[in-house]
Amino acid sequence: MQYLPIFTKLDNKPVLVVGGGDVALRKCRAFLKARAAVTLVAPDFCDELVELGNNNEVTLVEAYFNEHHLDGMMLVIAATDLEDVNAQVYEQANARNIFVNVVDDQPKCSFIFPSIVDRDPITIAISSAGTAPVLARRLREKLETLIPQHIGPLASLVGSFRDKVKQRLTSFADRRQFWETVFDSSVVSKVQTGDTSAAAEQLEQLLDAKPEPEGEVYVIGAGPGDPELLTLKALQLMQQADVVVYDYLVSDEIMELVRRDADLICVGKRLGDHSVAQQDTNQMLVDLAKQGKKVCRIKGGDPFIYGRGGEEVQVLAQNQVSYQIVPGITAAAGCSAYAGIPLTHRDHAQAIQFVTGHCKKDGQELDWQSLAKPNQTLAIYMGVIKSPHIQAQLLKHGRDADTPVAIIENGTRKNQRVVTGKLGELADLIERHSIISPALLIIGEVASLHEQLHWFGEKAQTSSFAQPLTGVA
Ligand SMILES: C[S@@+](CC[C@H](N)C(=O)[O-])C[C@H]1O[C@@H](n2cnc3c(N)ncnc32)[C@H](O)[C@@H]1O
Repeated sequence: MQYLPIFTKLDNKPVLVVGGGDVALRKCRAFLKARAAVTLVAPDFCDELVELGNNNEVTLVEAYFNEHHLDGMMLVIAATDLEDVNAQVYEQANARNIFVNVVDDQPKCSFIFPSIVDRDPITIAISSAGTAPVLARRLREKLETLIPQHIGPLASLVGSFRDKVKQRLTSFADRRQFWETVFDSSVVSKVQTGDTSAAAEQLEQLLDAKPEPEGEVYVIGAGPGDPELLTLKALQLMQQADVVVYDYLVSDEIMELVRRDADLICVGKRLGDHSVAQQDTNQMLVDLAKQGKKVCRIKGGDPFIYGRGGEEVQVLAQNQVSYQIVPGITAAAGCSAYAGIPLTHRDHAQAIQFVTGHCKKDGQELDWQSLAKPNQTLAIYMGVIKSPHIQAQLLKHGRDADTPVAIIENGTRKNQRVVTGKLGELADLIERHSIISPALLIIGEVASLHEQLHWFGEKAQTSSFAQPLTGVA
């Protein structure tokens, strides 16, 4: 190991920055974050440093550097653009065993600044020992997306309970067991949702009682298929789950991202193939949570848009099971974007209606009069089988037979297919191209834009997934 990572407490400790420009300012700000007592030495200073000096946040010494400026310093940074001055700082600091960093000159650094993921009080430092700073920065970006923001407040809350827990639980093993329970409890999700006082209250209760493991359900929208369309929150909760209850609509690539050792339960849901009845799924979620499990209930698209998420959450609430709801990108938004079809457009559509082609058996007939109005877009979910009926009703209620339509099969996935044509031939297109589920119907003038825009959509998705095909109608 070329550098030992240590975290130093610089509170009021004297540090020196040699230089008065932008680089010195940057380094000075890093020191100020750690509340160090910063002195800067330079013949002149940039405006921001002068302001910091006037506010007594730093001490400015207007002078050329000499070795006496090092007196009493713990750390020193050489941030001038003069090689000989930087070299002089390095040599003299080294001679006095003071840690020194010459900016952008790694051989002249006895300490270096790592890339930082800051979730104060949790801090993660990454270093490539100066060999590959861009790679270190990339790693940092990855960690930034993986580590949730609430980790900081969670650590602060836990820190505020440490002494109390130490007094109450005298053995190390008991304390460790207690904290394991806390981190598996909904204290974490309470902090995550910003309710720190409820989290603190629950922590008190856990400390008072002999804690039972506590379950909860995450109702997560997985989006239409491309795993890169998952939200960060969805990904984080998927990694915490003990059990994953999923539908067919969730793509294999997304299922790859759930916690490796989680139990997987498929509850089906393809048209005409409800492998588990909805009320059984509802009950399963309640039972699993009551057994103390963290349950990830993952659904395609958004759980509250034709996803029965509402029904499931109602049952959880009735049974007093804790839950979180994570929205997902609904098929209409994802598929239309990847097919290059804006759902609204000032020249073509001022409104968008989400419609289901598959109502409850005893459900109401759709309001065809309203759906047939021009200058609006219809995004029709589960409309493939009912397409002859949809086509007939829209025409009967006055929608023009030449209205553009697009059928997007497997939207946002590797095998996305887009078929375009006119409303008058909708059912025929579906049959001729053997469209299979999942497929979304877009009816309205905007569908004609696919020809113009799908190429750009394709380019924008280079690193990922869908390869929208040109309309074949
Ligand atoms: C039961 S609904 C679920 C909708 C989901 N909750 C959402 O917000 O997208 C299933 C229907 O959504 C549409 N759908 C979902 N994912 C799709 C995809 N990747 N491509 C095309 N259509 C999709 C299809 O119309 C499918 O029949």
